[in-house]
Amino acid sequence: MSEPVLSIRDLSISFQTSNGMVNAIRGVDLDLHKGETVAIVGESGSGKSVTVKAIMRILSSNQMINSGTIQFKYERENEKVSQDLLQLSKKEMRNRINGKRIAMVFQDPMTSLNPTMTIGKQIMEGMIIHLNMSKSAARARALELLRLVGITDPEKRMKSYPHQLSGGMRQRVVIAIMLACNPEVLICDEPTTALDVTIQAKILELIKEIQKKTQISVIYITHDLGVVAKVADYVAVMYAGKIVEKGTVNDIFYDPRHPYTWGLLSSMPDIGTDNEKLYTIPGSPPNLLHKIEGDAFAPRNANALNIDFKQEPPMFKVSDTHYAATWLLHENAPKIPMPENLRHRIDRIVKEAGSAWQEHRSYK
Ligand SMILES: Nc1ncnc2c1ncn2[C@@H]1O[C@H](COP(=O)(O)OP(=O)(O)O)[C@@H](O)[C@H]1O
Ligand SMILES: [Mg+2]
Repeated sequence: MSEPVLSIRDLSISFQTSNGMVNAIRGVDLDLHKGETVAIVGESGSGKSVTVKAIMRILSSNQMINSGTIQFKYERENEKVSQDLLQLSKKEMRNRINGKRIAMVFQDPMTSLNPTMTIGKQIMEGMIIHLNMSKSAARARALELLRLVGITDPEKRMKSYPHQLSGGMRQRVVIAIMLACNPEVLICDEPTTALDVTIQAKILELIKEIQKKTQISVIYITHDLGVVAKVADYVAVMYAGKIVEKGTVNDIFYDPRHPYTWGLLSSMPDIGTDNEKLYTIPGSPPNLLHKIEGDAFAPRNANALNIDFKQEPPMFKVSDTHYAATWLLHENAPKIPMPENLRHRIDRIVKEAGSAWQEHRSYK
């Protein structure tokens, strides 16, 4: 495994609101390695966006960073630099990091596009400002990028305005803009959620192809586990502001250990399961205005242990790549297996897709 490009340690973030403090992020540790993709998954409100917005330092003004470091390692003029992004000013972030070294694609491409400016100008802008490129060099590279993201007739598209493109095409243009300055890290926050399934698949394929060519590191946020299986090397499962399980894609899909991950996987539609009978996790996530005692998932877990309501579980190590914060992994815990339906489903998927899946996963 290569060394991490980005290391988040003990990150805690609250928001000041008229109802009190919302403890949105409660001690997140996460590593992103060169050329790899980490997917962050979890229900809405679990803290996925807040985590990546903290990396870009684009949180709202009512945020409070209570603790943590976000160490970013990169090369500047052939020298290795390691910088805690939380120590930089917003201005330094804008000038040195955002767009240039870390770029972000949002769910709605219009967040990143200027409706009054041609596509060509928007792609060229960053290269001219950040990379001191001449107009003609930037133009040549913009055309190249449009081809890379699969836009036909790029010469003509350079002169188009965002409203003249479909949603899928706009998202491709955003990806081209984000790649223009050769960033080391690309963050995608539900970039395909608003797109139809075929376009979604194409964008995912595109991100993977670009990654093979450029060795860019990607953080991919989604609540769709089918997408995770397609794009990710590593998966971090978030619940109520914490990462409750992390591991390789195989660790998480074939050997999940946290009852919340069991619930998420059980509620994931797949071809072999009658989707009408799909499981939904009972209850709802805790209110982050209140202090959470013990395991935040305990009230929704039918098999919760007494200790789950009292004491927060630490991250237990399952293997060198796999960790989960559940008391079930304590040596004295009762042996509670994953739900039978999920067991059968995983066994079936492994049997059906087994060798093909393994091959597909090890393309790198
Ligand atoms: N600016 C804000 N003010 C108050 N609460 C916020 C703010 N931004 C996010 N939150 C809260 O932080 C929690 C995590 O949100 P978010 O990271 O957006 O979730 P998601 O996993 O869906 O991306 C939610 O409870 C959300 O309401
Ligand atoms: Mg979000």
